[in-house]
Amino acid sequence: MTNIRKAILPVAGLGTRFLPATKAIPKEMLPIVDMPLIEYAVDEALDIGVKEIIFVTSPDKYSIKTHFERSESLEKKLLKKGKAQLAEKINPKKYKSIKFHFIVQQEQIGLGHAISLAAGYIKDEPFAVILPDDLFVSEISCTKELSMAYFETKNSVLAVNKIDANQIHKYGVIKPGKINKNLIEIDDIVEKPNKENAPSDIAVCGRYILTPDIFDFLKHVKEDKSGEIQLTDAIRLMSKEKPISALLYSGKKFDCGSKLGYVQAIISNALNDNEIKEDIKKFIKSIDWT
Ligand code: G1P
Repeated sequence: MTNIRKAILPVAGLGTRFLPATKAIPKEMLPIVDMPLIEYAVDEALDIGVKEIIFVTSPDKYSIKTHFERSESLEKKLLKKGKAQLAEKINPKKYKSIKFHFIVQQEQIGLGHAISLAAGYIKDEPFAVILPDDLFVSEISCTKELSMAYFETKNSVLAVNKIDANQIHKYGVIKPGKINKNLIEIDDIVEKPNKENAPSDIAVCGRYILTPDIFDFLKHVKEDKSGEIQLTDAIRLMSKEKPISALLYSGKKFDCGSKLGYVQAIISNALNDNEIKEDIKKFIKSIDWT
């Protein structure tokens, strides 16, 4: 095997930080300028050659499924109006050979639980996990770098970045071992430690390539204090038995699960959009900051 063929995209979160916007729309469908967040995550998976996307959703998130289905009526209307480019945007050719699977996580009891639900689709091959809330911007995508590291080491690899100590309680945090270029061996990993107990300032940032034996470790993970099954805890168990690497990601990262990160992502993407970037720059310059 020379590329990763399957990716799990967990999208079951309630999006409470964006209510009321997320009452009827999943947070992953919120647009970053003109493309929903979820499509960035799917494109990042396709970029490494993924052919099957497994969404783990919550019961009411129909629009994600609709978004990835072909809409012939809208396509016809757009073509009739001579808008072939838009027709391609809504039904991109690149999706034609992709299988989209949808699994419903009835209760939101943790990322580890969400991942375990997809075991039947993954079977016995390595796979990517992409958390769509985290939007990454870099020339080579974060998942691509991870997959290259996977084929070099054949071990599970997680993307990490350095985080301000005051934010560390929001992340899985690694205790680093040996460092080889941009790969760090993971000695230990803890989910959401407080600032005082954090083993380092190096946090897991929403992209993983995992070997399928993670499902065996997930079976042994106990609920945490809030009743959730954490993926980090399964990775911790795995790290006691075999090497796992962390890849220090150096591109830009936006936490679109927070209002600040979401707005930053929109501004950053708008400044890269040829249609509007000059006007956005003018607008920013014209703001009265007093
Ligand atoms: C999840 C993981 C955490 C990781 C984070 C990255 O947490 O459990 O280990 O650092 O994603 O965004 P969540 O943000 O879902 O609470």
